[in-house]
Amino acid sequence: MRMMNISEIKKLRRDTALLYAGGHVEIEGSRPESPGVYMSTAFVLEDLDALLHAQQNGGYMYTRDYSPNHICLEELVAYLEKGDACVCTASGMAAIFCGLLSLVKGGDHVLANAALYGETYDLLENVLCDYGIETTFVDFNDPAAVEAAIRPNTKLFYTEIVANPLTVVVDIDRITETAHKHGAKVMVDNTFTPGIITPLSHGVDLVVHSLTKYINGHFDVTGGAIVTSRELIGRAKYFMTLFGSSLGPLDAWLALRGARTLDLRLAKQFDNAARLAEALSKHPKIQAVHHPSLPTHPQHELASRLFSGGYGAMLSFAMDNSREKANRFIRALRIIQFVPTLGGYKTTLSHPTSTSHKDLSEEVRLRMGIHDGLIRMSVGMENPDDLIADIFQALDAG
Ligand SMILES: Cc1ncc(COP(=O)(O)O)c(C=O)c1O
Repeated sequence: MRMMNISEIKKLRRDTALLYAGGHVEIEGSRPESPGVYMSTAFVLEDLDALLHAQQNGGYMYTRDYSPNHICLEELVAYLEKGDACVCTASGMAAIFCGLLSLVKGGDHVLANAALYGETYDLLENVLCDYGIETTFVDFNDPAAVEAAIRPNTKLFYTEIVANPLTVVVDIDRITETAHKHGAKVMVDNTFTPGIITPLSHGVDLVVHSLTKYINGHFDVTGGAIVTSRELIGRAKYFMTLFGSSLGPLDAWLALRGARTLDLRLAKQFDNAARLAEALSKHPKIQAVHHPSLPTHPQHELASRLFSGGYGAMLSFAMDNSREKANRFIRALRIIQFVPTLGGYKTTLSHPTSTSHKDLSEEVRLRMGIHDGLIRMSVGMENPDDLIADIFQALDAG
C-alpha cells in the first residue's frame, strides 16, 4: 500500500491529518507503524558517492543536523502551525534564540511587546543588546505607542499572542499590518495558544514554540520548534546546527507521540478552563479572574474574533495580596500541584511574583496587576468539578 505524502495529508481534515503527518520512516523497504528511535549520533556512508548524494539530497549524516525522528516531528509541527517548514530545537528558549538571530543582526532594532516570557525578556534586554541588537518594549495593544517606538532600523516585531499571567490578548492582525507597512518582520511565540490560532495565517513571518508545553503535553520532554517559510527556515536551521541546539532523538519521538493527541487534550483543557473561570468568578474570596472566555475580559471580543475552538487553557485569579495566604492556599490543595511549568495534561499552578515575574520591581508588578495573591493556573484534563472542589476547599482552608 502506498503511503500518503504530506501534500495529500494536508488535504484531509485536521483531526485525521494530525494522526498521519510525520509518520513516514522507511527502512530498507519495510515501514514500521511507529517510527523507531534512532539513538545514533551519525549515519554510515558507503563511500564518497554516498556522502555526495546525502549532501545534495538532505540524506542523514550527523544527528546534530537532523535524523529521522526530527524529520517526522518537524513535518507534524509544520502542519500544526500551517507553515512550510519547521526545525526542532532542544528547548523553547533555543527556538527563540535561533529564531531571533535568523531575523536580526547587529545594528537592527527589535520592537517587543512589554509582556513577554521572563527569559525572552532577559535575552532581548540583557544579552542581545551587547551584540548590537537593541530592543524597545512597548504595549502592543497601544497603537500610538507602537508607532512612536518604530525606528528606521526596526527590523522585527516580537510578541506572544496571550501574555502571561493576566491573559492579555494581542491584536496580531494590527501588529502584522503595522510591522509590514514599515518593512519589519513579525515573530510570535505561540506556546500558550496552539490549536486556537495559527499566527502564520495572520501574516506572521516566523513562529516559535516551547514543545515542552502543550505540543508534547506530558511533562516529559524539553524541546522547541521554529515554523516558517521555506525561504526563512534555512538560516534558522543553520543557527540550530551551528549552536548545537538540536533536540535529542528520543525527545523528538516522545514529542511526536504527544502531539498526536494535541487537539483532543486541548478541547478538554479549553472547556475546563472556561468552566473554572466562570466558577472562580463567583467565589467571594476571589477578587479577579483573568481568562479571555469571560465577557468581562478586556479583550473578550478580540479573542472571539482571533481564536477558534476555545480561549486557551491558561487563567489567573487574584486573592488577597498576601504571600502567607497564597502559601496556605497552595499547601491546602489536594489535586492541583505547584509546578513551574504549564501546558501538560494535568492542572498545575504557578505564583508569578515568586517565579515568572520575580525579577520585576514591586512597583512595576503592581502596575501590571501582579501581586502576591495572584495565582496562575494551567488547566488540565481532570473532571472540572474535581478541580473546582479542590480550589474551593483550599480557599476555605485559607
Ligand atoms: C511562553 C513561553 N515561551 C518559551 C518558554 C521557554 O520554553 P523552554 O522551557 O522549553 O525553553 C516558556 C517556558 O515556560 C514559555 O512559557
